[in-house]
Amino acid sequence: MKISVVGTGYVGLIQAVGLAELGFEVVGIDIDEMKIKQLNKGKSPLYEEDLEELLKKHINKNLTFTTSYEPIKDSDVVFLCVGTPQDAEGNADLRFLFSAVEKMKDYLDEKYRVIVIKSTVPVGTNRKVKEILKGYNVDVVSNPEFLREGIAVYDFFNPERIVLGFEDLSNKKPIEIMETIYGYFKEKNIPFIITNWETSELIKYASNAFLATKISFINELAKLSDKVGADIKTISYAMGLDKRIGDKFLNAGIGYGGSCFPKDVKALIKQFENNNIEPILIKATDKVNEEQIKWFFEKIKGYYGNLNGKTFAVLGLAFKPNTDDLRESRAIKLIDMLLDSGAIVKGFDYVEKARENTINMYKLNKSKIVYGYNLYVLDDIYEAVKDVDGIIIATEYDYNKEDWKKIGKLVKEKVIFDGRNVLDVKKVKKLGFKYYGVGRR
Ligand code: UDX
Repeated sequence: MKISVVGTGYVGLIQAVGLAELGFEVVGIDIDEMKIKQLNKGKSPLYEEDLEELLKKHINKNLTFTTSYEPIKDSDVVFLCVGTPQDAEGNADLRFLFSAVEKMKDYLDEKYRVIVIKSTVPVGTNRKVKEILKGYNVDVVSNPEFLREGIAVYDFFNPERIVLGFEDLSNKKPIEIMETIYGYFKEKNIPFIITNWETSELIKYASNAFLATKISFINELAKLSDKVGADIKTISYAMGLDKRIGDKFLNAGIGYGGSCFPKDVKALIKQFENNNIEPILIKATDKVNEEQIKWFFEKIKGYYGNLNGKTFAVLGLAFKPNTDDLRESRAIKLIDMLLDSGAIVKGFDYVEKARENTINMYKLNKSKIVYGYNLYVLDDIYEAVKDVDGIIIATEYDYNKEDWKKIGKLVKEKVIFDGRNVLDVKKVKKLGFKYYGVGRR
C-alpha cells in the first residue's frame, strides 16, 4: 500500500515517519521548499525526541519528501495533515485544508483512494470535503490524532485509542483499508473506535476541551487556596486518588498553552455558537485560562509595587518541557507582560532550540523590545539568575536538581515566583528564599 501525507508539520511528519517505520512506502508533501530540502537530508525541522533518528533510518528508502502533489497519483491512501490555525473570530481556519484538497484533485483519477483527514477540524468538515470531491472515486475518513508534543513519537506507537469516522458504516472498503494500515495497533489490542464523521470529529475536541477544563478547574481552585491558606498540591493529590477523577492534568499553574488546547477550546466554543447553543462550561474554561496568567502577574507586581527597572530570570520559555514550541506559551505571555511594565528579562530554557526560537521571535516581531537591551536569553541557568530581583518559574521542568545554594548566592534578591509549583518549598525556604507558588502559601 502506498501512502501520501500532505503537510509535514507536527502531525504530518510524525505520521509519515511512523508509517515508514511500520513498513509502508510513504511520501510526505509540503509547499515549503526549504523544509522539504532539509527533510530529504534527514534533518528534522522541529525538535522531537527520536524523530530525527527515525527520519534518518527511512529517508530515501521507503520515505521521501516533495513539494509536488504528483505522488498522490500512485497513492492508495492520502493523509491530510495541514494546519488548521485560529482565525480572527476564533474559528478553525480551514483555508490550508481546502487548498490541499483542491490541489489534490489534479492527481485523482478513476483509481479508488481513501482520503484521511488527520488535521483537527470542526464538526461537519469531513462532509464538506466529501462534497468538494463529489464525483471522484474516493472515500473520506476522519482520523484525529492525540499526540503530545515532546513524546509524540512514543505516542504514535503507543496510542490509547484509534478513532476512525466514516460516511457510511455499511461500506466496508475504507474500514478494511484503515484497519490494514493500523494493523500493528489492532495486533496490540489498542481499542478502535469506528464511528461516523461527526462523532469522530467531536471526540478530538471533546478530549482536548475536557483536559483543558481539568486544568482550569484546578487553577480556579488554586486562587481560593491561595487566599485561605489551603495547599492546592495536596488537594490535587487527594482528588487524584479518587479513580473517577484521576490524578492527571490537575497540576495548578499559570495555565495551559501550546498549539492545541487554546485554539481547540476556542474553536469548540465557536462550533456551539454556530449551532445556537451557549457553551457555558467551555467558555469558562477559556476565561479561567486567560485570567490565570494575569492573576499570577498581579502577584509578582504586588510584591514589588513597581516593576520598572527590575530584572527577572524567567525559567522555561516553551509552552511545556522538552519542546521548542513557543505557540501560546504562558512563559512568553509573562515575558511580554514583564517587558511592558518596564522590567528586564533574562530567559532560560533547557531546550536549545526553544532558546533560539525565542531570540528569533523577539528579534523579528517585537519592535518595542530590544534584544540585548531589555531582553536576554541565556544558555546557562546560573547566568540567567545572576543579579536578578526575582526568579519566575514558567514551565514545569524539575528545577529541584539545580544547585539552589549557588543560585541563592548569585541573585540580588532571594525571591521565587513558582508558576508551576515544581520546587521543593521547604528546601528553598531553608536556603533563605521567599517563595510564592500557585495556591500554596
Ligand atoms: C495536547 C493533548 O494532550 C494531546 O492529546 C493533543 O493531541 C494535543 O494537545 P500538547 O499540546 O502536546 O498535547 O500538550 P499537553 O502536554 O497536553 O499540555 C498542554 C498544556 O497544559 C501545557 O501548557 C501544560 O503546561 C499545561 N498543563 C498540563 C497544566 O497546566 N497542568 C497540567 O496538569 C497539565
